[in-house]
Amino acid sequence: MANVVVVGAQWGDEGKGKIVDWLSERADVIARFQGGHNAGHTLVIDGKVFKLNALPSGVVRGGKLSVIGNGVVLDPWHLVKEIDSIRVQGVEITPETLMIAENTPLILPIHGELDRAREEAASKGAKIGTTGRGIGPAYEDKVGRRSVRVADLADDATLVARVDRALLHHDALRRGLGLEPVDRDGLLASLREIAPEILKYAGPVWKVLNEKRRSGKRILFEGAQGALLDIDFGTYPYVTSSNVIAGQAATGTGMGPGAIDFVLGIVKAYTTRVGEGPFPTELHDEDGQRLGERGREFGTVTGRKRRCGWFDAVLVRQTCVTSGVNGISLTKLDVLDGFETIRICTGYELDGAVLDHLPIAAEQQARCTPIYEEMEGWTESTEGARSWNDLPGAAVKYVRRIEELIGCPVALLSTSPEREDTILVTDPFVD
Ligand code: IMP
Repeated sequence: MANVVVVGAQWGDEGKGKIVDWLSERADVIARFQGGHNAGHTLVIDGKVFKLNALPSGVVRGGKLSVIGNGVVLDPWHLVKEIDSIRVQGVEITPETLMIAENTPLILPIHGELDRAREEAASKGAKIGTTGRGIGPAYEDKVGRRSVRVADLADDATLVARVDRALLHHDALRRGLGLEPVDRDGLLASLREIAPEILKYAGPVWKVLNEKRRSGKRILFEGAQGALLDIDFGTYPYVTSSNVIAGQAATGTGMGPGAIDFVLGIVKAYTTRVGEGPFPTELHDEDGQRLGERGREFGTVTGRKRRCGWFDAVLVRQTCVTSGVNGISLTKLDVLDGFETIRICTGYELDGAVLDHLPIAAEQQARCTPIYEEMEGWTESTEGARSWNDLPGAAVKYVRRIEELIGCPVALLSTSPEREDTILVTDPFVD
């Protein structure tokens, strides 16, 4: 049986939600393995719109097990609110349909406060442009060995010890930033209150997932953000604080690397990013504005306008390698309908040399000038196409050129937000 990892191959917002939903119908288990409620997945099912941040997309489909893996950082209060809002929409979430890894670190209110205080204090150029949801500080506490984890909620003495250990660090930091010391008793009281709401879903995810795999169940690993926001391989320091690339699906759930059979990279037919940081093909002209308007490029979590630019084959070629992508799902091709000419970045020029990859140094990344190849656009609409024959010749050429330049085939082509508007070339779940 095949297990599939879905990862964003650019800076996030590639349209993973629709593809994950499409694939989750054929999976038995859907697992999140990194990130937190900085992610925003919008699903449209039978005309109903579901907005998810922390919950795996599988929760809205009956008969599946949804899993939050240890690679995630979890805000328990946000999760309970999200569960409530899904319940109001008629979807019941129970310990039979949701499991949270016992070793998942929690995001506490102090993490969000620290995240926002740092961003406010940073000068222009030093800001990361985070979602302000405490993701970075929560991961810092994880590697600093001072997290409160899900399992700690079960024992009061442990909980008190964990909170005190975290506050020793946080109160010192807060003093430096001019923030009040943490209200320790208030924090403990709200953790004790939320504990039963979380503990009822807690379990040994690593064990259950491996058992599911052995019994032939199909697992879909649902990535959040995009590979260029990866803490190691992204545009550091303008990145998120987790590993986003596909290898994290293993460490973020407790599966061995051999459990991954197919990596599907989600790739938008142009490029966008939110937040600060280098973006070689960014457009500041009418074309950029048109991409943003046609693509409705506004962040689902923060509502921020996304920066837009031409397709950058250098970046996607690189992320296909670091994530071991077997096939891509190309999304939002229809946004390019009506452009007279379309440009694709095939390399960079830096200090008189031509580069075929993005250099790792931030200072060099910022100075890379894209080398473009021009392609003829198309006037016909590609929206809703369900076969290659429905696509204009110039659009097919564009897709084929992308495959060639990134060195990876198209497995799926998505031509509108509707789930049926998908051209299937390779089924990632083939046995
Ligand atoms: P953080 O993850 O909130 O720490 O934000 C760090 C960077 O990642 C910022 O540039 C955010 O805009 C970006 N980011 C975080 N989550 C997402 C996402 O789901 N889509 C796109 N960008 C994201």
